[in-house]
Parts: sequence; structure tokens; C-alpha cells
Amino acid sequence: MRVAQAVQQLLAVIERHHSSSKGEDRDWLLTEDSLCVGLARVGTPSQQIIKGKLKELVDCDLGEPLHSLIVCGECHPVEEEALEKLTAYFMGHEDNLKHKPTSNKGIFHMIGLGLGQPGDVTVKGLDAIKKSSKVFLENYTSVMEGGIEAMQTLFDKEITVVDREMVEQSSEEILQCTKNGDVAFLVIGDPLSATTHIDLVIRALDKNILLNIVHNASILNAVGCCGLQLYSFGETVSLPFWEDGWCPDSYYDKICSNMENGWHTLCLLDIKVKEQKAENLVKGLNIYEPPRFMTAADGAAQILEVIKRRASEGRPTPLTPEQLVIGVARVGTKSQALKTCTLEDLALENLGAPLHCLVIVGETHPLEDEYVNMFR
Ligand SMILES: C[S@@+](CC[C@H](N)C(=O)[O-])C[C@H]1O[C@@H](n2cnc3c(N)ncnc32)[C@H](O)[C@@H]1O
Repeated sequence: MRVAQAVQQLLAVIERHHSSSKGEDRDWLLTEDSLCVGLARVGTPSQQIIKGKLKELVDCDLGEPLHSLIVCGECHPVEEEALEKLTAYFMGHEDNLKHKPTSNKGIFHMIGLGLGQPGDVTVKGLDAIKKSSKVFLENYTSVMEGGIEAMQTLFDKEITVVDREMVEQSSEEILQCTKNGDVAFLVIGDPLSATTHIDLVIRALDKNILLNIVHNASILNAVGCCGLQLYSFGETVSLPFWEDGWCPDSYYDKICSNMENGWHTLCLLDIKVKEQKAENLVKGLNIYEPPRFMTAADGAAQILEVIKRRASEGRPTPLTPEQLVIGVARVGTKSQALKTCTLEDLALENLGAPLHCLVIVGETHPLEDEYVNMFR
């Protein structure tokens, strides 16, 4: 099915709902004015992205399959900006590339490495790395078995590790390197999943730098290893380390709202690398603390703490210590581990080395139950 056909079908559904609810005072959230995004051939040189109101996409011709359609929810201003620039870049992509004036010689390759080990890079990603005169690795949102040494050996390239500060405050320096040739920016997982680096994409597009995004497996799809249907997951949440009286818990409301809809929740767990103690920061000393990774047990204990805190404040706690959860560790590696149990049992479970995440199980299909129960 093509985007235009899907749009025609949705418009027909809206029309049907309107006529069947005539006289009733009902507001349908999906209307012909809802913002939508059409995607075609993602990951190929002829990838296209188009956006517009549902009714505006009714005649769009995105060419050959495969196509997908996104009906947008609420958009953050950064998402709006990214959408604007990406659609401008990827509309008629191949023709654009032929005519694009650019002062930069090289292409900016944003390359997903996948989850397990450096060998999970795609052939396309490896080819782009080999062609690049400069290779950067972002290692503050995820880590990979074998670390940078294993990557340097396999890719046969010198790799410069960049921290959050560098990517967020000195991205110009990274992008400037395309003046001398291709640049590879490596991201563990998928470069546009969970951690989007969308800022870097926007800046590259602003500078008319040619962009090549190489996708790979992400925890957002690989979490399917626990046997739950990805279609039945709601909003993903992130649990931050609590410190110095800073104990945010707004993720709890999102988990509850997913549960109300029967959806599962993927909880990503905080990582702290290159942290500095306040005293070292004040003294201007470049002394960093060892990296810290939140475990599934830490995450479960923190959620139990939120439940306790809210109960003591007389607030509702739909999530209980008996809630079914799955602790998920080192997905994509040989030592991948899963544990299905209650929230309070997970808080006592040692799943070993990082990375961990945890899944709060919503309503399940019998097939999901059967699979999930294998990890008890
Ligand atoms: C901010 S996300 C970055 C995700 C990455 N860009 C991707 O596409 O998968 C990092 C968090 O995802 C989870 N995660 C990432 N890789 C994982 C793995 N292999 N096994 C378990 N959890 C993982 C952890 O909770 C980790 O702290």
C-alpha cells in the first residue's frame, strides 16, 4: 500500500465516523487536518519524506514501495524544526543530491553500530567508515562490548571519542571536518532511535552538508527479544539516577497511562559517564568519576520507592510491587539475559554487567504469556 492509498482510506474512515455520529456532540482526534508524515524507501538512496495535513497527502506520489505513514501526535518545537528540514532534504532526494551546492567536500555519515559488538555494523556502515577521513564515536548514551579498542581493530581506523559536551556545544568542529573529506559519526544502536542526535542532523542540513544516515538495530526494536509485541508498547520512559535530593518521578505517570491502555512500557535506565564531583568541577580539575550504569534492580527499587512515596502522600498507585516486569540485560550480546518476575523480586535480582533496561508488562496475549514465562 502506498501513502496516498493509506491517506484515502483514513479520510474515508473519518467520513464514515462523521456520518455515523451525526447529531452527536463528538470530537474525533483524527481529522483531515491532522499533521502526517509520509515515508518512502527509508534507508535507500531514493528515500523520501513528505509532511502535510492528512488531506494534503491524498494525491502525493512517493514512487515505488515500501511506504509508511505517520500520524503525528503533539510535536516539540525541535521535532517541528527537524521535520521541516528533513522533509525539505528528503523530498525528491536523489535529484536534490545531484544539484545540491555545497562548500564542504565530504559527506556526514551518521552510522548506527547496532547493539552487540562492533561486528554488528552493517556492510553499508563499514563502507562509509572506511571512506571517512575522520571517525567520531559518541559513547555517552550507550556502550558496546569490547569498547573502542575492538572497534578500532575491526574498522582499522583511529576513532575519536566525543562526550556530551563536545556534541552539544562544539558540534561545529565535528561538522567542519567535512571540509576535508567524509566524516563518520558512530552511534551505538540506531543513530535516530532513543537518542536522536537530531540537533547534529539539523546543523548539518543548515550547512548544506550532504547527509547519510545508516540505520541499525536499536534497543527500541530489539526489546522484542522478551516476547512482547512491539505493537503493544506505549510511550518509552527514562529513569534518571536520583541524587542530592533531586528525585524526579514523572515517568511513573507515563507508565500508569500506558497501563490504563493495556500497553507495555520500555524503561531505559540512566548512564553516567565522565561525571565530575562538584568539588573537582569548582577547582577546575579534570578528574572524572568511574562510569555508572543503572541496573534493572536499581530501576525496580526506584519505582518501588515512588510507589511508597505516593502511597504515603495518599496519591493513587496503580502500579504495585506485585506488578509483572521483565529485567533485560545486554541485548544482542552472547550473555543476553532476561528475567520475568514481580517488581519487588526484580529489585533483588542481579542480572550482571551493563547495559540493562526493564519492561513493565501490560495486557498480554496468550502467546506473549507463553514466551515471557520462559524467563521466570
Ligand atoms: C539512551 S538509550 C540509547 C539507545 C541507542 N541509541 C539505541 O538505539 O539502542 C540507552 C539506554 O538503552 C538501554 N539499552 C541500550 N542498549 C541496550 C542493550 N543492549 N541491552 C539492554 N539495554 C540496553 C539502556 O537502558 C541504556 O541506558
